[in-house]
Amino acid sequence: TPIPVIAIDGPTASGKGTVAHRVADRLGFHYLDSGALYRLTALVALRHETSLKDEHALAKLAAGLPCSFVGEHIYLGKEDVSQAIRREEVGNTASRIAVLPAVRHALVGLQLGFRKPPGLVADGRDMGTVIFPHAQLKVFLTASVAARAERRYKQLIEKGFAANMADLLQDLTERDARDANRSIAPLKPAEGAYLLDTSDMNADEAVSQVLNWYAAVR
Ligand code: C5P
Repeated sequence: TPIPVIAIDGPTASGKGTVAHRVADRLGFHYLDSGALYRLTALVALRHETSLKDEHALAKLAAGLPCSFVGEHIYLGKEDVSQAIRREEVGNTASRIAVLPAVRHALVGLQLGFRKPPGLVADGRDMGTVIFPHAQLKVFLTASVAARAERRYKQLIEKGFAANMADLLQDLTERDARDANRSIAPLKPAEGAYLLDTSDMNADEAVSQVLNWYAAVR
């Protein structure tokens, strides 16, 4: 039998990360935060001052990321970059380089490698559409822009970063547009995806819903 995959896609700050992570914990599955790979590539590009127009150089960085995932922590070589990759500047740069086909292509193998027994919960923008099109369960998680901006605001403040609501709203709107309108792997619900609007739902409720759907298809 194939190793099961639950693909959870959705826009920025829709709560996918929290939900996907908890679903993985509950099932004892591995967890792939695919956005972190784009963020890692962005972090390295920013540090090397690589031009965001140099697709070839950026793809090379993506293909050679010396990254490792240990529990909740993400490393670049020996450096724990779990916090550094959450900066808004890094997220914004990640969304800019994510439009480049060569960069996306360079990260495919790394993502497929996360599918190990007993199963995987993968979170991103194209998990159900491109990377794991045969996932046993596909979920498209959404929430209103206002709800997402508020969540992102709280997250940033909790992590000790400065945050400004007006800037966040603008950034979210821009990032949504970039993710939805790019020609390669645009953000959209996968064929057969279950839609979950979490605007008025807490994380526990969303997790239960996903687990119920999974129990029905497994
Ligand atoms: O999910 P997160 O906000 O960490 O992702 C950062 C950026 O990486 C997103 O804004 C999106 O542009 C890009 N991304 C993507 N495909 C994925 C995951 C993230 O294009 N599977």
